[in-house]
Amino acid sequence: MTYRLATQEDCPCLARLNHQLVQDEGHRNRMTVPELEVRMRDWLSGDYRAVIFEAAAEVMAYALFREQSTEVHLRHLFVVRHRRGQGIGRWAVQTLRWHFWPSTKRLTVDVLVTNKNAIAFWRAVGYSDYALTLEIQPDAAAGP
Ligand SMILES: CC(C)(COP(=O)(O)OP(=O)(O)OC[C@H]1O[C@@H](n2cnc3c(N)ncnc32)[C@H](O)[C@@H]1OP(=O)(O)O)[C@@H](O)C(=O)NCCC(=O)NCCS
Repeated sequence: MTYRLATQEDCPCLARLNHQLVQDEGHRNRMTVPELEVRMRDWLSGDYRAVIFEAAAEVMAYALFREQSTEVHLRHLFVVRHRRGQGIGRWAVQTLRWHFWPSTKRLTVDVLVTNKNAIAFWRAVGYSDYALTLEIQPDAAAGP
């Protein structure tokens, strides 16, 4: 397994994987792959960085994160569907911690409460529960 920082040329691939991530985590996001590609390009030209994990030139996983003054916030972690449960996610987080994330900074991730597999994963790799977002959805009938 190898890893490298993503470039703008990777954005079409990252957008396709992002689309699968949205489906797999059960997110409400309804953006299309082209829309996700535009968003990914904006993120990578700003202060986000993405790391791509590959084996035999095939993408196995990607991570997207932003480093701030006291914190590194992980926005996406995605392992391709046919390679899950093989330790790739755990290895990806270790690689990020060793090679990209300062040990002096707080590490954060947001996860949907319905995404039980991911919650189990984050706890298994060392993250602990901190905050819970609560909401009341707007009344759709009252919208514009
Ligand atoms: C969540 C995800 C990144 C985990 O990657 P992975 O490569 O499958 O995970 P690993 O094989 O490295 O698992 C590491 C540990 O996490 C836990 N874990 C992983 N998947 C789990 C599952 N489905 N149920 C329970 N525990 C799980 C286990 O403790 C595992 O350790 P073990 O193998 O020693 O039992 C991957 O399943 C994925 O991409 N899911 C879809 C996208 C997603 O939800 N991303 C996170 C958004 S917040």
